[in-house]
Amino acid sequence: MAAPVVDADYLKEIERARRDLRALISQKNCAPIMLRLAWHDAGTFDVNTKTGGPNGSIRHEEEYAHGSNAGLKIAIDLCEPVKTRRPRITYADLYQLVGVVAVEVTGGPTIDFVPGRRDSSVCPREGRLPDAKQGVPHLRDIFYRMGLTDKDIVTLSGGHTLGRAHLDRSGFQGQWTSEPLKFDNSYFIELLKGETEGLLKLPTDKALLDDPEFRRYVELYAKDEDLFFKDYAESHKKLSELGFTPR
Ligand code: HEM
Repeated sequence: MAAPVVDADYLKEIERARRDLRALISQKNCAPIMLRLAWHDAGTFDVNTKTGGPNGSIRHEEEYAHGSNAGLKIAIDLCEPVKTRRPRITYADLYQLVGVVAVEVTGGPTIDFVPGRRDSSVCPREGRLPDAKQGVPHLRDIFYRMGLTDKDIVTLSGGHTLGRAHLDRSGFQGQWTSEPLKFDNSYFIELLKGETEGLLKLPTDKALLDDPEFRRYVELYAKDEDLFFKDYAESHKKLSELGFTPR
């Protein structure tokens, strides 16, 4: 599909959608699943074939029916009234905008948002997103395929400061921090503490402690929330722009 024309009117619609999404997220308390939607639309990017990425393709059943996307139809449906009110905005832009707003309204850093993503109806095959049961080499395989770095792997894993796992969606259960609607650096503090009764750590979360390069960042971010916010905002922007060249 053609790229949207980002003129003054489109930019105004983006600002209006931003307000719609802030209201929606606070009304439904749905920041975590909205962040996960943005990440799962973007995280299918393949830097070698330039396929997948933040292109709205997750709105199609063929893609949201993938096992890794279990539950995300809820987020897709929640975004639909905003798309209806702001039809010029592409799904690709809307899903990345909602991710940025989810981080912002829960107290996280401001992430620069550049609109203009085109929608695609081509869905990637299943298997491009990370498998929570695996370890360090798998994390590197998946994120390097996106064109992202070790530092991005750690900062973006900090997204688990929000939300929870649901047994009927992923087979895992529980939240990573004691305040799952607050975006802060507590994910890293909890990770370093080790097992805490009632809190969740996926194998891929624990893997961040196994590798010295990953662990270095975990320790930095547990100590310095300002640094985490600065680095997170950069990595999130990269994730949200995989394969996208603003014009
Ligand atoms: C939830 C895996 C990276 C944001 C989950 C869940 C799993 C998972 C299994 C639970 C889903 C459910 O049962 O509802 C992984 C793995 C990752 C990863 C293996 C590899 C590093 C990320 C990244 C972000 C993110 C990069 C965003 C920057 C979230 C959020 C939730 C979540 C916000 C909570 C959703 C909710 O409360 O409904 N993730 N994730 N994850 N993930 Fe990740």
